[in-house]
Amino acid sequence: MTVSATDAGTLRLAGREVPRLGFGAMRLPGPGVWGPPPDRDRAIAVCRRAVELGVRVIDTAWYYGTPDQDVANEVLAEALRPYPDDLVFVTKLGGRRTDDAGWAPALRPEQLREGAERDLRVLGVESVPVAHLRWIDDGGPDVVPFADALGTMLELRDAGKIGAIGLSNVDLDQVRTAERITDVASVSNLYSPLQRDDDPLVDHCAAAGIPYLPFFPLAVGSVADPGAVADVAAELGVAPAQVALAWLLHRSATMLPIPGTGDPGHLEENVGAGSLRLPDDAVARLDAAGRPSGA
Ligand SMILES: NC(=O)c1ccc[n+]([C@@H]2O[C@H](COP(=O)([O-])OP(=O)(O)OC[C@H]3O[C@@H](n4cnc5c(N)ncnc54)[C@H](OP(=O)(O)O)[C@@H]3O)[C@@H](O)[C@H]2O)c1
Repeated sequence: MTVSATDAGTLRLAGREVPRLGFGAMRLPGPGVWGPPPDRDRAIAVCRRAVELGVRVIDTAWYYGTPDQDVANEVLAEALRPYPDDLVFVTKLGGRRTDDAGWAPALRPEQLREGAERDLRVLGVESVPVAHLRWIDDGGPDVVPFADALGTMLELRDAGKIGAIGLSNVDLDQVRTAERITDVASVSNLYSPLQRDDDPLVDHCAAAGIPYLPFFPLAVGSVADPGAVADVAAELGVAPAQVALAWLLHRSATMLPIPGTGDPGHLEENVGAGSLRLPDDAVARLDAAGRPSGA
């Protein structure tokens, strides 16, 4: 049976109707999200297969690579140009890599502008449909007040470099602040059946009709570890990743998971989760298993 990302249903993201199952490009570079893919042909094949399977939302960042090499964006461009008209890249501005393969903020106006220009140049597009303001505060000189960073994003949108503004790694107060200033196209935070701290923001986004793109939706693979997700998967005869994604899709109508993989088999499995309907008792067990202790 051929699977399709549209099996997961659709939602409106930045004015476009898109399948609710996306693809995260962070696993395209080498180990540690650093340097070129170990097998470039395979990485290209995964991107092409994602689009063949109907995926239309691709989460990426210019800084998925090294400080000098925008690996994920390079692979995406090589694999997918000319892009389908309905493909929606969701990028991130506000972070960068350090020379020792770490992650650091890059929230000053010139840094946000430089990241936007790198996205346009390497992806080979005139405008990126959605850019997330990736909040990261290490207390250092590259952090500015949240509203100021948002101001630079508004300038980038006014200049047509980005089509819509989303937010990433933010809390509910920041989302509310942003909502008073502009339309929030989407929110992308850490969330999975195993990591539910963001439940209040998931609910807020559902109520406000804001697409929520959980990152680490598979808890970076640990949904396969012994526990409720793996138990349900074994009972249903499906993969733990599929149970995790099906639970996320069931959790909220504005949920749009972006699982990351460099493996064509895993990609197929992840897209296949869109047609998996979990029995009520399985949903109840997963709901209970993932709650923060005391909740
Ligand atoms: N906004 C942010 O700050 C932020 C932060 C982190 C990530 N992200 C985005 O979110 C996306 C998703 O996060 P992620 O990729 O880090 O974590 P994830 O989707 O939770 O898990 C990816 C890991 O799980 C493995 N995997 C994927 N599908 C699988 C399957 N069907 N069965 C078994 N293992 C599977 C992958 O390995 P294989 O390659 O071997 O499949 C990879 O190691 C990223 O790609 C990135 O685009 C955003």
